[in-house]
Amino acid sequence: MKVLVVYDTKHGNTQQCAEDIADGINSVESNITEVKNVKDVDLNDDKTYDLIVIGSPNHMGSHIKSIKKFISNLSSTAVKANSFAVFDTYMGKDFEKAVKKMEKQVNEKVPNSTMALPGLSIKVGGMKGPIVEEDVSKCKEYGINLAKKM
Ligand SMILES: Cc1cc2nc3c(=O)[nH]c(=O)nc-3n(C[C@H](O)[C@H](O)[C@H](O)COP(=O)(O)O)c2cc1C
Repeated sequence: MKVLVVYDTKHGNTQQCAEDIADGINSVESNITEVKNVKDVDLNDDKTYDLIVIGSPNHMGSHIKSIKKFISNLSSTAVKANSFAVFDTYMGKDFEKAVKKMEKQVNEKVPNSTMALPGLSIKVGGMKGPIVEEDVSKCKEYGINLAKKM
């Protein structure tokens, strides 16, 4: 299947998780997964994916502005998918806080879409990370589970 993993990051942790998710997806079968910083996604590019995975750091209890904008544009852009999955990285007690908001926004913007799996929330040890040890393997695992689910 054809997958786009799109993320934004300030300190690299969300990017690391995006790359690990892609590794997981690609380890299951001959999937083609593109991993892109949201600023490098050309919304005019006529591309259809089986799955788009969207990742954001939690900033003040929600997903980052660039990712909000990406989701907001999804209904009107050439980049398309029917299935989605979301993930966030967070620092404090905000487990799943941003992913819940991202899921809600995707469902509003792409009404006939489905969530391939519930969102993944990855804890970092401080503003700059790193991802806490017990969560490191969860990103690749999530990718494997996504590939199996599709
Ligand atoms: C401006 C700003 C606001 C943040 N607000 C929160 C927050 O409300 N809750 C939380 O758990 N983490 C918060 N964090 C921590 C980020 O979630 C953490 O820096 C991020 O997950 C690291 O990912 P990155 O390396 O991809 O940037 C905030 C970080 C920044 C820079």
